[in-house]
Amino acid sequence: MDNTDIVRIFDTTLRDGEQSPGATLNIDEKLEIARQLARLGVDIIEAGFPIASPGDFEAVRRVARDTGQLENPPIIAGLARAARADIERAWEAVREARRPRIHTFLATSDIHLQYKLKISREECLKRVGEMVAYARSLCPDVEFSPEDGGRSDPEFLYQVLDVAIRAGATTLNIPDTVGYTTPAEFGALIRGIHEHVPGIEGVIISAHCHNDLGLATANTLAAIQNGARQVEVTINGIGERAGNTSLEEVVMALHTRPQVFGLQTHIDTTQIVRTSRLVSAYTGMVVQPNKAIVGANAFAHEAGIHQDGVMKNPLTYEIMKPETVGLTESKLVLGKHSGRHAFLSKVAGLGYDLKAEDANRVFERFKELCDKKKVVADADIEAIVNDEIYQPMELWRLEHIQVSCGSGLRPTATVRLRGPDGIVREDAAIGTGPVDSVYKAINRITQVPNELTEFSIKAVTEGIDAVGEVTIRIEPLADGGAREGGTNGDAYLTQAGPRVRTYSGHGADMDIIVASAKAYMSALNKMLTVVKAGTRE
Ligand code: KIV
Ligand code: ZN
Repeated sequence: MDNTDIVRIFDTTLRDGEQSPGATLNIDEKLEIARQLARLGVDIIEAGFPIASPGDFEAVRRVARDTGQLENPPIIAGLARAARADIERAWEAVREARRPRIHTFLATSDIHLQYKLKISREECLKRVGEMVAYARSLCPDVEFSPEDGGRSDPEFLYQVLDVAIRAGATTLNIPDTVGYTTPAEFGALIRGIHEHVPGIEGVIISAHCHNDLGLATANTLAAIQNGARQVEVTINGIGERAGNTSLEEVVMALHTRPQVFGLQTHIDTTQIVRTSRLVSAYTGMVVQPNKAIVGANAFAHEAGIHQDGVMKNPLTYEIMKPETVGLTESKLVLGKHSGRHAFLSKVAGLGYDLKAEDANRVFERFKELCDKKKVVADADIEAIVNDEIYQPMELWRLEHIQVSCGSGLRPTATVRLRGPDGIVREDAAIGTGPVDSVYKAINRITQVPNELTEFSIKAVTEGIDAVGEVTIRIEPLADGGAREGGTNGDAYLTQAGPRVRTYSGHGADMDIIVASAKAYMSALNKMLTVVKAGTRE
């Protein structure tokens, strides 16, 4: 196939996506997501911002090494500001990849030059030339991004891109950093670059859009129609503020409307739902039910008139087949008498790819649930699968909780945990409510100062016997050890001081106090594994 008919998919879930508040991932989670992204067929994985912290550096290095074992590995990119130290660190992190890339950037809008960087346009041009050339002296594949390109003077942008090409950039990525442009404007910007930058035919033009006005996908598609052949996207559209362009939306638009675009990607669309679930569970970023392609309602037809039409012919209301994105309809209703085989085929149909050892644990949980519930719904199964497999390494393990509460009683909890040293510890606490007392008891044992910043609970199905799913976020307190210092992950936007990461955790159980305790243990374990990996500086 002619390469000009291919749109390269550059996934930045592990870099821009991880910058979503609360989406912090530990190294194992990043590795697992990277493996799934490779299975999905992305062309480039931006694995992180290596200079941001030792933990980020190590994660990029591990992803570079790990994906190198694959038969057809994706390119692994590391982000770097246009500064020698950043570029060296990025190169150190990606150099073991079979196909490494350095992605360096410098702002080009007058607002950023004047107020953030405090440099002139001339200095900007000089720095781009020097730093792209330096990156190119280390790595044959160099991407350059003029940050805030969407608000930059096009004539100046052409000059910057000309300098970057002469210095050896192989991909030029145009970011709409603040999600300000409209599709017509962004399309015209890409067309202008195509028409006015000398040597542009020898490099790939890329688009990187943010979703502040809800236009990221539309802007990215406009860029493609005007010559972009790489798009920078994240799974579920996660990212800074309102997020980045969502991978699944762009890929499915190209796939569903060949008459309009006439372009292909290397994506295996049947892996989309699986990838979406994995990223949602690990980042704690819940996908809204009406989210295009991957939301729970994306393929659900509620209105009678629609259901009738779909039954007569799916084409009446269905523009994509659920199977195309990895949802296979299974008519099985599961309950007490369902066997392991039926259960596992149901789980696979829901888009999960369980390892053998996980399958055993999940099946055990399913059987326990069947003792309490007559019919187990898909949502129950999703909740227990997420609860069992998408969890951080268990440094502290919940062994037992007991709570007493009620009117006229002071809520009291007794908790038993097994620590990282294998020793079992028990303590009790009084709280303002049952969950508070459990969390206080856990804090007395683990001694990890943190603040609970978010707590949400939902019943995954209707009915009194529903499974409860709890999602929480915690933030380390100053002496809690997980505060990141130095040059932080989003310094390219803020240039500010230390960034406080928040950590999400989730838990599911028919007993909502147990689900709450599990969610708290999950967030604590995640926070501790990130610190252990050296995120702290
Ligand atoms: O949004 C942005 O400008 C970025 C760049 C670093 C590419 O994420
Ligand atoms: Zn961005």
